Amino acid sequence: MNAFTFYNPTRIFFGEGAISKLEKQLKEYGKTVLLTYGGGSIKKNGVYDAIMAVFAKTGKTVVEVSDIMPNPRTEKVYEGIKACKEHHVDFILAAGGGSVIDCTKMIAAGAKTDEDFWDAFFVKKLKCQEALPFGAVLTLAGTGSEMDCGGVITQWDTQTKISYFSPLLFPKFSILDPTYTYSLPKNQMINGAMDTLSHAFEQYFSRPDESNLSDDLAEAVMKNVIENLNTAIADPTDYVARSNLMWCATMGLNDLIGLGKEQDWITHKIEHALSAFYDVPHGAGLAVVHPNYMLYTYKNGVSKYARFARNIWHVDPTGKTEEQTALEGILRTKDYLKSIGAPSTLGELGVPESSIEAIAEKTILYKTSYSDLKAEDVKAILRLCL
Ligand code: NZQ
Ligand code: ZN
Repeated sequence: MNAFTFYNPTRIFFGEGAISKLEKQLKEYGKTVLLTYGGGSIKKNGVYDAIMAVFAKTGKTVVEVSDIMPNPRTEKVYEGIKACKEHHVDFILAAGGGSVIDCTKMIAAGAKTDEDFWDAFFVKKLKCQEALPFGAVLTLAGTGSEMDCGGVITQWDTQTKISYFSPLLFPKFSILDPTYTYSLPKNQMINGAMDTLSHAFEQYFSRPDESNLSDDLAEAVMKNVIENLNTAIADPTDYVARSNLMWCATMGLNDLIGLGKEQDWITHKIEHALSAFYDVPHGAGLAVVHPNYMLYTYKNGVSKYARFARNIWHVDPTGKTEEQTALEGILRTKDYLKSIGAPSTLGELGVPESSIEAIAEKTILYKTSYSDLKAEDVKAILRLCL
């Protein structure tokens, strides 16, 4: 394994009823709390009421920033920063999926600086020096934002969607109650599971390829997601399936399965460019792009792709070249995603062929273990997605 440093301070409370842990956590912070959430799902599924009951019990003064949209935009971060400064907020609680948590992270960072947050963190890439403490109540399993220190924000006017990372932006704690995900529409659940799979792929398909625990863990995440997604599609309130999907999502991006790995992340960069232009749900974009990125690059990592085919899809390698086995694994991935109803073409995402050029030019590129793409290659990958 390559050398690594591991640091992850987020406290996780997992399981049905885990909201009961919120009271003690909140007691550690001051009186004024900002509650951040999205377009209203938490008001329909009871999560909002459960949180407000704890705020009342702990005597908190509550400020709210709602309507945080999927693929959160700068304006919501500005709104949150303003609220924190005006009301002297002591702590932020994010209730929702990755979009709400990511927006909250940047509110937490922006509230502690007089600089414009976008300019400071996303343009000048300044180090975050201080952030408001925040926690999360997760309602959508997928991004891993509940136990990582990254936030992804879109500046819509310039069609820019980028990430920012800081060790100060780990949630202090995250509450993971799998029953909170029962109310997710099927497509959102699939998007989340696809995101988890994609995170596992991004870390697994990279050097070193010799035996290492990170790759074994990544395979476990992939197998577990596939098995439990099938169960949750059949029965959305299957607790075992939902709890596995939730923990896989967290494990997918809390750094553990990427330790000692070069990691890739080019598919994510392409998807972020897609979302920046067409506001597509992240997981849906990944479902379209990732299998085609694999098809375009697998020959540079044939052995690993063949291992993936054997271990995840039980492809029998007898009588096949390694390349044939590898290719079969990718095609099985494509077929599987189609079978569960994930989108497989840009058309299904509402992305026209004419936009390929602009998306490719906007994609952030760099050399990885198995690829060294230029904009022309991204265009070719996106054409495979038609
Ligand atoms: O807004 P509400 O009404 O809450 O509805 C949301 C939203 O419309 C709904 N939803 C969430 N929980 C629900 C629910 N509906 C019913 N019942 C529930 N329990 O789902 C919709 C999508 O939510 P969103 O938060 O946008 O989805 P997701 O968690 O997939 O987050 C996507 C964002 O995270 C970024 C993506 O790029 C995208 O911007 N990512 C963040 C990462 C990170 N911080 O580490 C890594 C990822 O790779 C990703 O890039
Ligand atoms: Zn992702």
